[in-house]
Amino acid sequence: MGSEIKAGPMRVLVTGGSGLVGKAIEHVVQQECGKREGEEWIFLSSKDADLVDLGQTRAAFEKHRPTHVIHLAAKVGGLYLHMRENLHFLRDNIKINDNVLQTAHEMGVTKVVSCLSSCIFPDKTTYPIDETMIHNGPPHDSNFGYSHAKRMIDVQNRAYFQQYGRLYTAVIPTNVFGPHDNFSIENGHVLSALINKTYKAKKEGTPVNVCGSGAPRRQFIYSLDLGRLIIWVLREYEEIDPVITSVGEEDEVSIKEAVDMIAQALDFKGEIHFDTSLSDGQLKKTASNAKLRRYLPDFTFTPLKEAIKMTCDWFVANYNIART
Ligand SMILES: NC(=O)c1ccc[n+]([C@@H]2O[C@H](COP(=O)([O-])OP(=O)(O)OC[C@H]3O[C@@H](n4cnc5c(N)ncnc54)[C@H](OP(=O)(O)O)[C@@H]3O)[C@@H](O)[C@H]2O)c1
Repeated sequence: MGSEIKAGPMRVLVTGGSGLVGKAIEHVVQQECGKREGEEWIFLSSKDADLVDLGQTRAAFEKHRPTHVIHLAAKVGGLYLHMRENLHFLRDNIKINDNVLQTAHEMGVTKVVSCLSSCIFPDKTTYPIDETMIHNGPPHDSNFGYSHAKRMIDVQNRAYFQQYGRLYTAVIPTNVFGPHDNFSIENGHVLSALINKTYKAKKEGTPVNVCGSGAPRRQFIYSLDLGRLIIWVLREYEEIDPVITSVGEEDEVSIKEAVDMIAQALDFKGEIHFDTSLSDGQLKKTASNAKLRRYLPDFTFTPLKEAIKMTCDWFVANYNIART
């Protein structure tokens, strides 16, 4: 085992620090007094180190000597990109995760919190899904590459604990959205792609064309809520087994309902069409947040309508710098 880190204020390295979730954590740390006295927080982007490359990963860890790591970096994308590039999602994510976890271990990092995703759960399952069911069957075909790579983080966390006593754990967010998301209509996540589509349709006076029937149901979590929860996990959560970080089952909405909230937030009054010739992906993947609730019964999630409105406002105000 590598040299152990001395006790003292945390030095937290956030991989994927320039992305949707990374920016939300940065906001909580810097704007909501999330940082404690003496702590240092470092937010990495792929420009600082390509974590697919072991040498660059080691160099980044040597440079910053973190005591704690929040591991967010991943090759991520929307449904249609996943369907086209399962091999790339599998290989890049396996490499990124192994490089980060093994380097953290070799350099004596005391805690790592990685990010899984609710879309890695078995396709054929009972609902609601919980943390014990991750490996119970094959994931949905559309994103099997990403899913298997992510599942291996959980396997690896257990192995680091079994062999070396490491406290490396993970959160399982449902669909995340918020400022700094990828709003690309082609490759973005569903909600952000729909915000961009609606914004464009309003500007051009055209209808909004939604891919699929609008029937699939999803639990959406606002990135700032997730940021707050990940910081709690880093400080307080002591299990190796992951925890689902999501709004409750009662807050699941259909894509159609989400589109209506976006239209309202952007004051879009045109027509909305649903293209049923395109794939819907998984019809639902309802996840239970009961475990999270046992730890944090009073955590308040931002109401979806309010969070969508704040995200739309951010997108309109930052259109020139937003990822589109
Ligand atoms: N968004 C969701 O709905 C969702 C849901 C569940 C789980 N998650 C998980 O949450 C984590 C964060 O996702 P996100 O939505 O914040 O993604 P994102 O906005 O696309 O950000 C991805 C981050 O990873 C970095 N990255 C990508 N490839 C890299 C590489 N080869 N080397 C180093 N850094 C690399 C990017 O750096 P650059 O900015 O330099 O490209 C960026 O900071 C991921 O692990 C994802 O799987 C996301």
